Amino acid sequence: MGPDSSVRPLSDCMRERNTSYYQSSSTSIYSDFLTYAQSPQGQLTRAQAHEFHARAREHPKPRHEVLEAGVGEGAFALGFLQELQRLDKAQGTDIHSRVHYTLCDFSKPMLDKAKTRLEKEGFAHQIDTREWDASDADSLPLFGADFIRCNELFSDLPADAYMRKGEQLLQARFDDKMGLHPAPADWAELDDFERKLLFALPESYVLPFNRLARDSLFALVQNLHPHGKLDVFDYGFYRADDFSIPSEIWNQTLVREFNTQWTVDLNFLYLSAALSSEGHFARVEGQEDYVNHWLAENAGAKPHPSSGLDYDSPTPADMQEDDFFYHLEVKKHG
Ligand SMILES: C[S@@+](CC[C@H](N)C(=O)[O-])C[C@H]1O[C@@H](n2cnc3c(N)ncnc32)[C@H](O)[C@@H]1O
Repeated sequence: MGPDSSVRPLSDCMRERNTSYYQSSSTSIYSDFLTYAQSPQGQLTRAQAHEFHARAREHPKPRHEVLEAGVGEGAFALGFLQELQRLDKAQGTDIHSRVHYTLCDFSKPMLDKAKTRLEKEGFAHQIDTREWDASDADSLPLFGADFIRCNELFSDLPADAYMRKGEQLLQARFDDKMGLHPAPADWAELDDFERKLLFALPESYVLPFNRLARDSLFALVQNLHPHGKLDVFDYGFYRADDFSIPSEIWNQTLVREFNTQWTVDLNFLYLSAALSSEGHFARVEGQEDYVNHWLAENAGAKPHPSSGLDYDSPTPADMQEDDFFYHLEVKKHG
């Protein structure tokens, strides 16, 4: 019997599902999942505004270019621009008025929704939209940016996944119901770093190699102006502690489905090492640590208890979400 054609590499499953999910005009993403971008308190996007404001004060420019990739319905942009206005008012500055904000996504319906939302809130004069498929790094048009921000984009890009059993390499293949079917693979499919990572980490754990996310990050970072930076927020793994989950549970929860769309953990070890190997500055920290750092003065403000998105006093049910969310900060070499 030949190989089962309904069992495919993870990247094939993700590409097919995610393209049709996000590009459909009937998709309503926030009925299917929550992200930190649209939590009612907007802590993550407000923390970003605080950081940006502080940086813009340090390196003032007539025009600050901000680019967001993977924009959803515009909440991450909206909270950021509104918080900049608030900070300007409180500090007597005019940074918000010098921001030009580009919304970038491969989904026209998402871009349209985000644009409409921002226009309604009075930001039409300072936004632009650009269609770009982040899984095709080479198609990124050249631009210059001072601040690039991405929340939960890269975990949606097609990725391949492998596991090691002793000396044997297995590729993680999936059926349509997300059943895992490890299949023998050739070590030559991997580069040196990928091979090393599989031997450095415990065996029997399926590891995603987010190659398209890596290439996309390489392309984005090339567009940073001097003093510019790129921030990625997403769920995934980085710390040794993340591997305290038994491999069977890890392997079952690495890929998740939200109304036909598949998302995979981001391998922050892989991405940060890849960026560093190209000479870029790359640093990973817990997302919660980032928010607490930049919103320290707001520590007393408690989020709405029903949001399910809570950095301050998580209930056991929230803990897991916070634990596996990371922030990758990237600055261009030179
Ligand atoms: C999980 S949503 C996150 C939206 C928003 N950043 C948030 O946090 O609420 C993923 C976003 O990335 C976009 N996206 C997914 N795959 C993409 C790709 N290959 N290229 C560009 N955008 C993509 C989707 O259209 C969607 O807007």
